Amino acid sequence: MSSFRIAVFASGQGSNCRAIHDAIVNGKLNAEIALIVSNNPDAGVLAWAFENGLTHICIASEQFEDKKQFHETLLKTLALHRIQMIVLAGYMKKIGLPLIEAYPNKILNIHPALLPAFGGKGMYGEHVHKAIIDYGAKITGVTVHLVDPEYDHGAIVMQKVLEVSDNDTPQTLAERVLALEHQTYYQAVQLFAENKVIVQDRKVFLSKNIL
Ligand code: GAR
Repeated sequence: MSSFRIAVFASGQGSNCRAIHDAIVNGKLNAEIALIVSNNPDAGVLAWAFENGLTHICIASEQFEDKKQFHETLLKTLALHRIQMIVLAGYMKKIGLPLIEAYPNKILNIHPALLPAFGGKGMYGEHVHKAIIDYGAKITGVTVHLVDPEYDHGAIVMQKVLEVSDNDTPQTLAERVLALEHQTYYQAVQLFAENKVIVQDRKVFLSKNIL
């Protein structure tokens, strides 16, 4: 059976990318990381991909004269590697319309909070955890969602919850949420690999039939 070919987009250390890779190696996810894309030449994820022999590329919009050329290059690269799904894992750039149109309901993102709370522009990394603690929220968690043109807005595929304790700092919360992300993201990707996901407007259902 041919594998489900994913591209992981990441801007930083890429621990979610590594967790997805581990899930593949351990037989929990039937997919192949066919390409790793970063916008940041110094991203830890690129060094890790190099060390582990995974195909990787740095493509940043700043390298191009305009957004049109950037998107054309990105789309050609994804087509060349026969990418079936894009998995955003700490990718700190907004995904443009040409990509969303080329991969309808096939771009996933993970967010370190329970959307629609604590999401939107500027809500990333420790900003999210600080906002949760400052607000006095008692629970937080992770959200895996499809990407649409609005930040952190697309249909929700999976959410998991954890409690915020009185002693939590943004750093301790970030650590626990990240560990939960690592346990969650590959499970959501596996649903797509098994072709189990049905999307109707904002609602995501799981089909019982594996096609
Ligand atoms: C993760 O916590 C991810 O949820 C977050 O960036 C981190 C990346 O970590 N993404 C966002 O905040 C997007 N709004 P990683 O590079 O170790 O996977």
